[in-house]
Amino acid sequence: MSIQEAKVGSTTREVKTLPYRLYTDPEVLLAEQEKIFARSWQFVGHISQVENPGDFFTCDVAGEPILVVRGREGTLRAFYNVCPHRATKLEKNAEGNKKILQCGYHGWTFQLDGSLNKAPNFKNGEQLCAAEACLRQVRLEVQASLIFVNLDDDAVPLAASYGDFFADLAAFPFLGELKKYSVNTRVIKSNWKAFIDNYLECDHCPIAHPGFTATLDLTKYQIIQCENYSVQGTVVKPDKQLGSVELNKAEMQGGRFYWLWPNLMLTIYPGPGNMSLIQMVPIDHETTLGVYTYLFRHDELTQEEKDLMAFTEQVRVEDVELVELEQIGFKSRAFQKGKFSATEHAVLQFHEMVLKTLGIEEAQA
Ligand code: FES
Ligand SMILES: [Fe+2]
Repeated sequence: MSIQEAKVGSTTREVKTLPYRLYTDPEVLLAEQEKIFARSWQFVGHISQVENPGDFFTCDVAGEPILVVRGREGTLRAFYNVCPHRATKLEKNAEGNKKILQCGYHGWTFQLDGSLNKAPNFKNGEQLCAAEACLRQVRLEVQASLIFVNLDDDAVPLAASYGDFFADLAAFPFLGELKKYSVNTRVIKSNWKAFIDNYLECDHCPIAHPGFTATLDLTKYQIIQCENYSVQGTVVKPDKQLGSVELNKAEMQGGRFYWLWPNLMLTIYPGPGNMSLIQMVPIDHETTLGVYTYLFRHDELTQEEKDLMAFTEQVRVEDVELVELEQIGFKSRAFQKGKFSATEHAVLQFHEMVLKTLGIEEAQA
């Protein structure tokens, strides 16, 4: 067995998973939104989406509407996408370019730096407290061309939140040349944590991912736990072809699969320069929106890029089926918890972080 064994590899102690009630209880999701999603760095987009002054996109973070916009002077900012007059969602479009932001209710307008421009129904300027009338800003940081926001004003800065992760990424020089190609979404009938669990081990790969297993050398598979993230990877088998891609001659010859606390997965597959990001955004306690962002070099994909994307999508589909079957079992009275193998140690790391962040003692779990 070459998948790195660690932590749970003892035969003297049985290590169990999170209790399944944490996957089926709407109250747990409320606590997770508050304690996990509203206090962690959340990936929201790629820098190629907001290159020019006035470029913007909107998104949801921890159930909050968020607006990311590049100011006239070039500064990238994030705001709650909420009008300070009477709370209307300010920008309705998913993306675009604006010189000024206007609320569709009473016509208040805002500069791209969030300051109030005009409040037409307030005739006397003195009635307005200028500070209160600004859009409320959210912390935003960019690393490796990836845009993150954090609703917690006291959060540790992004670069310091994930150990050596961003330094590790610097080993892939092609990342700076990539741009957003597409964002696909998929509604998954499972709790968000089930997909993270699935991603964090490869015990299921030989059973569930025949294409992946035929291409990548699982005898050299490594799973390494790091500070608030983990990384998995291996090399391709000799002389492998992926559609039009000759993998052993490709720019990227192995696969790297990162997970960042709590809900972001970032994959770099063998082949031409590529990166895809998978984010699991809870819709409710047993439904999740999978957001798949694909980054490639070209606006029009080359045949190699198309073949790689098809390969990646196939693995995604196979995983979705698994976690939807798992959610059915979570609701059963048959079992309350599962067990970890020695090679599921990165799942254990995730579970320990969930328990700690929710403030649940292991004994009570
Ligand atoms: S709610 Fe936005 S202008 Fe009134
Ligand atoms: Fe999988």
